[in-house]
Amino acid sequence: MKVLISEARIRSRVGQMARAIDARYRNRRPVLIGILKGAVVFLSDLIRQMRIPVEIDFVTVASYNGRTSSSGRVKTKSELSVDLEGRDVILVEDIVDTGLTLRRVVKRLARKKPRSIAVCALLDKKDNRRQIVPIDFVGFEIPDGFVVGYGLDRRNRYRNLKFIGAVDGRKPKS
Ligand code: IMP
Ligand code: MG
Repeated sequence: MKVLISEARIRSRVGQMARAIDARYRNRRPVLIGILKGAVVFLSDLIRQMRIPVEIDFVTVASYNGRTSSSGRVKTKSELSVDLEGRDVILVEDIVDTGLTLRRVVKRLARKKPRSIAVCALLDKKDNRRQIVPIDFVGFEIPDGFVVGYGLDRRNRYRNLKFIGAVDGRKPKS
């Protein structure tokens, strides 16, 4: 396991992102929607560095099915509990790779008539993009290659690492 982004760098960048979101949504009360499970660590650190009032909710989607590249099929597995009509929504994602997940979720949420939808992603693997999805707040751009930690898993492991690490994602062993 190689450390790609240290705990200290993550903390400082997440703080900067929190301040950028605070500034953009001053006098508003956005709903931050985390995409489970990967975004849970990032979202919980992010909101604790924010100062404006927020609400949170979650959606569960899966496309990887234990593999290390997108299956191309994105399944939504849970529904929201907050009414999004007229609300400012910020989708919080751990990592954007092909963009398929995000595009699908943005499309679904747009039907609920929010006032606005923005995207906040900790990591951006730009080289793999297959769908154009604008990302409003990005933590780090990283090269292609499988990463784990800080919420990100490989076969449901490593989510609790405090740093972002690189594993050889080509042939996952159990
Ligand atoms: P996309 O639909 O290809 O953009 O993939 C996005 C989702 O795939 C993310 O929400 C992650 O859950 C997962 N994912 C993409 N790349 C990685 C990675 O390097 N490590 C762990 N999960 C990843
Ligand atoms: Mg995810």
